[in-house]
Order: sequence, then C-alpha cells, then structure tokens
Amino acid sequence: MPYAALRSIGAYAPQKILNNEELSAMVDTSDDWITKRTGIKERRIAREDEYTSDMGVEAAKKAIERSGIDKDEIDMIVCATISPDYFCMPSTATIIATKLGLKNPTAFDISAACTGFVYILSIAKAFIESGMKKKVLIVGAEKLSAITDYTDRGTCILFGDGAGAAVVSATDDKSEAIIDIHTGSDGSFADLLMTPNGGSGSAHDSLEQEAASCFMQMKGNETFKVAVRTLTKDVVDILEANGIKGEDIKHFVPHQANYRIIKAVGDALKLSDEQVVLTVHKYGNTSGASIPMAINEIYEDGKLKKGELLLLDAFGGGLTWGSALVPFSPKN
Ligand code: ACO
Repeated sequence: MPYAALRSIGAYAPQKILNNEELSAMVDTSDDWITKRTGIKERRIAREDEYTSDMGVEAAKKAIERSGIDKDEIDMIVCATISPDYFCMPSTATIIATKLGLKNPTAFDISAACTGFVYILSIAKAFIESGMKKKVLIVGAEKLSAITDYTDRGTCILFGDGAGAAVVSATDDKSEAIIDIHTGSDGSFADLLMTPNGGSGSAHDSLEQEAASCFMQMKGNETFKVAVRTLTKDVVDILEANGIKGEDIKHFVPHQANYRIIKAVGDALKLSDEQVVLTVHKYGNTSGASIPMAINEIYEDGKLKKGELLLLDAFGGGLTWGSALVPFSPKN
C-alpha cells in the first residue's frame, strides 16, 4: 500500500492590511479590546478584483515549485473554502486548476469552514493510500472579507483573507508518511456559526434580506467554549491513539482563531511556547487557509526542517473539527 507524504507548503497574503485602529473607526471597538480578547493586531484584505481562486493560485504556485513535482503530474486538486468564487458552480478548485494550467485533474471543493485544511489533507491521504491518485494539490483559500458584515463588531474584527497550499504525494517510505488524521462533526451546533445565505435552506422576501444573510453570523462566546473543549480533546485522542507524547511534537499548528483559545489549548496539553505556532496577530482568522498559512510562516522563517513532526488541530463552523500528525517530508 502506498503512503501519503506532505512534500511542500506555500501561502499567499494580500497586500492590504486592515489594522485594529482602522476597524475602530468603522465599528464601536478598540485596539485594546481586540488585542486582549483575540490577540489579533491586523488582518489582510483582498482587492475587489482579487478572488479566492487568485489567492489560491499564488499559494499553489509556491507549493508546486517547492515540491519539485512537475505540475503536469498533479492528478487531483481539492480546495477548502467557505468563500468560493461562485457559490454553486464552478468549483474554485476547477478555476485554480485552469489558472495554473494543470492537465485535467480531478477537482472539487469541500466546505468544512476552519477545519477545511485538515479535511482536504485527509482526502489527499485517502486517495493516495487507495492508489487512486498519486500527486495531490490541496488548497485552503478564503476571501472572508466578501462574507463579513463590517457593521457587526462581534465578527468583523476576527476575519481576514489569504490562502495556503500543499502538495501531497505517494511514497513507499513509511517514515515520510502522514501518521494519522482524525476528523468529525456535529451539526446540532450549526447555529453557532453560519451564513444563512441564498441556499435552498433560506427563505427571504427581499433581495436586501438575502444579501445581508450572506454574511457570517456567530455566537462568539458559546463558540469559544466549544472550541477550547473540542480542540483539546482532539489532540489528546490523536496522540493517545498513536502512542505519541506532547514533547515529541516539534510544531503544534492550531487553527488561528483567537490567541486565548490557542493559549488555553496549549496550556491544557502542557505544550511549550516554542512548540506553538502563532500567526493570528498578523492575519486574524482565515478559516480554511489558516493552518497552511501558519505552516508556511515557520517554513519561510527557516524553522521547519525535513522530518520534523507537525501536529495540526482545527475547529470550525458546522461544527467540524480535526487533527493530524504529519511529518514534513520534502523530497530534497
Ligand atoms: N469590541 C468591543 N466590545 C465588543 C466587541 C468588540 N469588537 N465584540 C463584542 N463586544 C462586547 C459584547 O457586546 C459584550 O458586551 P456586554 O458585556 O456589554 O454584553 C462583551 O464585549 C463580551 O462579549 P463576548 O462575546 O462574551 O466576548 P468574548 O470574550 O467571548 O470575545 C470573541 C468575543 C472574540 C468573538 C470570542 O468569543 C471568540 O473568539 N470566539 C470564538 C471564535 C471562533 O473560534 N470561531 C470558530 C472558527 S471560525 C470559522 O469556522 C469560520
């Protein structure tokens, strides 16, 4: 049976920075409140003519180049996004594939909100281990500014735009292989975080109502509590299942939603500050893009070396959650 190895990482952040002072002029909030409650100082905002697929393409170009794999050999692309270029079709994955000039790969999107990257990593692993695919491009890309209500101080301070991508390919060498991925969901918490938008589940009388309902709505405080509980349990479960201890993890890469959530989970798991990767202060919450953007950050800082063990941990709307034990296995 072939194994699946994480070969490379890439990311893209739009140029425009929206900082807490600027947000304080838009809604009733302050740099002090946002910093204390979330750890976020600034986030990136895509240009109006810059789509989720464009950001995904930039991240994917880097991931492909760093993988040393010919793009013509990529036989599948999966995109995790809750802010696709178009809500129903075509998928953002097919648009990214075409913009990259890939050769007719299997291409589709998945919707798992902030857990999106862990979900697409598990899909890549499953397709490769089954022998159905050999070289898979996974992309987490979000233009959350397009679905954020900038009059709602409870959500607009949190979210930002960006993309991350990775190449996963088959290997016979078990030491390179993704060790394990756990994913789950509980739809009974759906109302904690949702976009009650123009899908078949919405019934609106006017276009104004319809447009407003495309924005994300969140019960922040309840979400916070479930997030800490779920993220911690997730990690305990995957470490126990694989006989791995917290000190064996080189980089803990949690979904970047809120510094207080990350700190609470890190403390509960007795992880050191050096182990915990933090980018939330720079990018805010970029949903499906947050974990690959964070991995890319340590890669570009020269802190991620071949063979080092990553522990990924995510939580998001749905509700969905997931964790993964992944050695970084570039070919060179
Ligand atoms: N500025 C100032 N005051 C604010 C702001 C703001 N931006 N937002 C809320 N407040 C006020 C509230 O109105 C409330 O005031 P009150 O006490 O007078 O009623 C007070 O601050 C406390 O509000 P809480 O909602 O209890 O604040 P909390 O400490 O929970 O922080 C936050 C809010 C930052 C949203 C936090 O709950 C959070 O991070 N939640 C989790 C987010 C998350 O992880 N989401 C999941 C992933 S996202 C995805 O899947 C796309």
